[in-house]
Amino acid sequence: MKKAAIIVGARPQFIKLAPLVEALTGKVDLLLIHTGQHYDFEMSDIFFKQLNLPRVHYHLGVGSNSHTTQVGKMMISLDEVFIRESPDLVVVIGDTNSTLAGALAAAQNFIPLVHVEAGLRSKNGHLPEQINRIVADRLSDVMCCPTESSVRHLKSEGKTDGIFLTGDILYDLIVRIKPSEVFTDALLKKHNLIKGKYILMTTHRAENVDNPKFLKALVSGLKKITGNVFLPLHPRTEKQLRLAGLYDELSSNPMVQLSKPVGIIESLALTESSLGVITDSGGLQREAAYLGKRSYILRDETEWLELAEYGAVTCIGNGFDNHELNWEAVDVPRDYFKSASVNITNSIIGSIL
Ligand code: UD1
Repeated sequence: MKKAAIIVGARPQFIKLAPLVEALTGKVDLLLIHTGQHYDFEMSDIFFKQLNLPRVHYHLGVGSNSHTTQVGKMMISLDEVFIRESPDLVVVIGDTNSTLAGALAAAQNFIPLVHVEAGLRSKNGHLPEQINRIVADRLSDVMCCPTESSVRHLKSEGKTDGIFLTGDILYDLIVRIKPSEVFTDALLKKHNLIKGKYILMTTHRAENVDNPKFLKALVSGLKKITGNVFLPLHPRTEKQLRLAGLYDELSSNPMVQLSKPVGIIESLALTESSLGVITDSGGLQREAAYLGKRSYILRDETEWLELAEYGAVTCIGNGFDNHELNWEAVDVPRDYFKSASVNITNSIIGSIL
């Protein structure tokens, strides 16, 4: 059997690994590599536990650093693993620094490259995620596109071969992970939340939370909110709130409940039981849409253009007034939903194996 190395390193990639591993098992020998970009229990191990993911074969232990140093360290270690293991193909997912390092190391070792979540684009060319996905796509032999617009982007950039409309791998996860009623009830009780009466909020994107102006607007915006808000904090966000001297002001807001980052089962349960979502996460806006909830995005743009067209996703920049937020249930057309993991497997088999 051919050997496929899958590279993960950040929270959103562990989640997507679950359906991918399931679909590829028995078709290729899997070599799982964790770069160590995320390392806290709540950012990494919890997902391996909750999703019953196999142990990774290599943990590179790279940890946090500047983007360049982080990517450089990952590449050095990946180079060693690729030389030792000679994988027949490399799969990278999404748009993180682990994606970029995996793509560059594969290309420089002349190993065929598959990019899952290819073709997404933002207008801001300086975002690390945009740089990472453009480079990954440019180097990829197989581009697994979640949406029609992502296919269009690649074609308009001159790519002709290896483009597949596979659907969104996160949808496969939603189909598989259904938090039980007992689990959800206990979770809501633990956090003193009432079904349908709170907003789930997350924010972690560097361009937002590294900007004290954004954080100030967020903390004052939340003072005007009339409903309850449940806000699990990414470590980057907590660190920046403390640095900006805003953490205590936020945590003393009686309408806002802060928590550690939550696992995927908790996140899906909290989304499904919420009024809706305010976020800057690419993943949460899709999970919410698939669960029939609206998302308001703390950015001026989204890469998920179709979800914006269907009204599931609305960009509100960094200001919000909850009186203007409409939380009516939203229906995404059924033909938008595709089981991506099978399509991804077929595109790899058809193109590389
Ligand atoms: C990364 C991705 C981002 C993705 C996000 C999901 C890049 C460039 N960005 O951002 O696209 O949406 O993951 O979470 O790859 N930290 C901890 N514990 C951890 C991990 C991080 O405390 O387990 C703290 C560190 O202070 C670190 C900071 O969070 O410096 C940022 O982590 P990093 O991996 O650089 O980027 P993310 O902000 O998580």
